[in-house]
Amino acid sequence: MGRNLAVLTYGCQMNKYDSERIVGILEGLDFQLTEDLTLADMILLNTCSIREKAEQKVFSQLGRLKRLKEGNPDLIIGVCGCIAQIEGDSIFQRAPQVDLVFGTLNIDRLPYMVREVEKKRGRVLEIAEDCNPDIQSPLTFRESRIRAWVSIIQGCNNYCTYCVVPYTRGRERSRSSSVILDEIRGLAEQGYKEVTLLGQNVNSYGKDRSDDIDFSELLSMVEEIDGIERIRFVTSHPKDISVKLMYAMRDLSKVCEHLHLPVQSGSDRILDMMGRGYTSEEYLSKVDRLKSLISGIAISTDIIVGFPGESDDDFKKTEEILRKVEYDSIFLFKYSPRPETLAASLSNHVPTDIKEERFDRLLMIQKEITLKKNRDMEGGIEEVLVEGPSKKDRKKLTARTRSNKIVNFSSNRDIKGEMADLKIVRGGLYSLDGEVIERGC
Ligand code: SAH
Ligand code: SF4
Ligand code: F3S
Repeated sequence: MGRNLAVLTYGCQMNKYDSERIVGILEGLDFQLTEDLTLADMILLNTCSIREKAEQKVFSQLGRLKRLKEGNPDLIIGVCGCIAQIEGDSIFQRAPQVDLVFGTLNIDRLPYMVREVEKKRGRVLEIAEDCNPDIQSPLTFRESRIRAWVSIIQGCNNYCTYCVVPYTRGRERSRSSSVILDEIRGLAEQGYKEVTLLGQNVNSYGKDRSDDIDFSELLSMVEEIDGIERIRFVTSHPKDISVKLMYAMRDLSKVCEHLHLPVQSGSDRILDMMGRGYTSEEYLSKVDRLKSLISGIAISTDIIVGFPGESDDDFKKTEEILRKVEYDSIFLFKYSPRPETLAASLSNHVPTDIKEERFDRLLMIQKEITLKKNRDMEGGIEEVLVEGPSKKDRKKLTARTRSNKIVNFSSNRDIKGEMADLKIVRGGLYSLDGEVIERGC
């Protein structure tokens, strides 16, 4: 008889992709997915360690699961992902209700690990330090039937001084282009329309391999695959984004006009302390070039407020960069000291209330910019990929523009998974409203 599996996923797209791998492997072992934790025979927490809050969320969830396990001693609780990779064994001490802990590089070993837990009824721990991304088992489960994640490079060599990712995901490992292209061809055959190529720094793609294919060339190869209509990618490190990539974005018709280009700070002093490898001027000149080459490009970013030693003057420079670039959207974070990172040992930590003040101020500035940009789209026509019913209003459909903006609209046909042309009738802060324009009219 099948057993029920619940997977709770925290953190970034890498974890979402890994959770899809996990579910696929476990479905092969006769587990079926449930969202109801009380029905689950096994609950896996795919965790994130990027900020302290992310970690706290996981441990409070583990607290709730402890009670569930008291009522159902056969329940298997597993912790994987980035917290598992760095905390390893110590998770068992902090949360004795946990049966299984495995790292970010051990997913393919799941069938063995699950058998061990069931057999031993005791604790199982596996944390690898390295793996070959080319022999990873193919994904057999994906959340969406329209858009898919495809990992192209795993790990990170950058060691930004605030960031835990190089410790949780290891060194950079690019997957071979033939493995990636086979995966995408398979997706196209199944009817997928959009792929998002994933890596902590996609611009490093291929640098660790001898087959001489760089990221721009990989994009050209994906462009050739029939059936795939849209190509996206995250994340690009500003220091590594090349003019060649900008031209590829301009010339390849399927590559969408959206770039996530995390700036982190507008102050050169702070950027230097973060170890980011660019100045604000260099960043801005790349943004100018992108804007002049790629018409209508949308740019989004990540910003950290309150990095150790960030003064009012440093913060003003971040404000300035926001106004200069006029981002379409931003992800804002309050600096959070992380284990093993260099910045955690710096002095001059910024008090919480100042971090909050700076966070609120940037949010307010950005809201104005986003709203203005979205209103400027009113009256224009956008090609969208329709994703399905809108979460807020089930009578409406929701779709995404090439620039990655959400548009809600009404249609008397179910055109989920299809491309459509919409006239934008209202630009709001978080989404746009559109009207269908019949193609060919
Ligand atoms: N690889 C991507 C993003 C990785 S993490 C990149 O290099 O851009 C996503 C974002 O989390 C980062 O861009 C950064 O803004 C934020 N972040 C990382 N570590 C953080 C920390 N210690 N405190 C607060 N925010 C952090
Ligand atoms: Fe972290 Fe920097 Fe690597 Fe991004 S590039 S994952 S911020 S170390
Ligand atoms: Fe979090 Fe790991 Fe991603 S730390 S942001 S889940 S790489």
